Amino acid sequence: MMFDRWGFKINGARIGELGPGDSLGIGLAALLSGAARYVGLDIVPYSAKADLERIFDELLSMYTKEERVPDDKEFPFVRPRIDSYEFPRDAVDRRNTSTKAEEIRNQLRAGLNSGSLLGYRVPWMLLPQIDQASLDLIFLQAVLEHIDSLEGTYRAMFAWLKPGGYASHVIDFRSHGRSPFWNGHWAYSDWQWKLVRGKREFLLNREPLSTHLSLAEKVGFKLLLAKQDQTPHGLEATSLAPRFRRMNAADAQTSGALLILQKPRSGYAVG
Ligand SMILES: C[S@@+](CC[C@H](N)C(=O)[O-])C[C@H]1O[C@@H](n2cnc3c(N)ncnc32)[C@H](O)[C@@H]1O
Repeated sequence: MMFDRWGFKINGARIGELGPGDSLGIGLAALLSGAARYVGLDIVPYSAKADLERIFDELLSMYTKEERVPDDKEFPFVRPRIDSYEFPRDAVDRRNTSTKAEEIRNQLRAGLNSGSLLGYRVPWMLLPQIDQASLDLIFLQAVLEHIDSLEGTYRAMFAWLKPGGYASHVIDFRSHGRSPFWNGHWAYSDWQWKLVRGKREFLLNREPLSTHLSLAEKVGFKLLLAKQDQTPHGLEATSLAPRFRRMNAADAQTSGALLILQKPRSGYAVG
């Protein structure tokens, strides 16, 4: 569990995820590891039709056998890479696995929002907001690059976390198939990009790393870790749209990042 180094304990933790997509697998794994609650918040209900019981059975079998975590040989594009892929015996409380597994299974059968362990809120912005200062951790895997109202979302995450709570963001700054070049999405002018997006619910907000760092700071987060993937080979700056030509060198080469943020223990909001 990579948050251990900052004192995070999964046992009893209340965890949120923005944009889980079509699998609540990380949430189910968090519950099996000892978390008290998981809530997934999305704008499209991709997980509503997923076979969550099958995913859960596979996870439970991995936990029961204390299998190694699938590594980057099996899933080369999954981030973050972690220091050890051994089963995290020290971090995971397995004393109550079978009771917990029964409770999770019962809730999966009764409906995602039928009990206290699991929540699934879609579209989250139109539903009553989750309680302020109620989460110990919120994580986003390949989601922040898609979010249109970035500042509002950073503010919401800050509000949901307890003082001392953590936010983990894996951000993929690449062009997501909209160009043969990893940075080719920055070559489109704003109106061209509007045409590319069409009526899609979301595409890419095209914001570089520095926008995320400054918004995180603006809403009050403390930066604990920033790990960047640098990809120098892409379109030259002169081929980018004017507003992206001015990007600083670090932004221009950052194709991915992992940010770990913390809400200060004093819990003040800024801005
Ligand atoms: C590329 S998928 C990532 C899915 C999953 N996290 C994963 O790693 O496989 C992006 C997800 O972000 C969600 N998303 C886009 N805009 C969002 C928003 N404003 N709030 C919450 N989720 C959003 C999408 O619905 C989708 O589930």
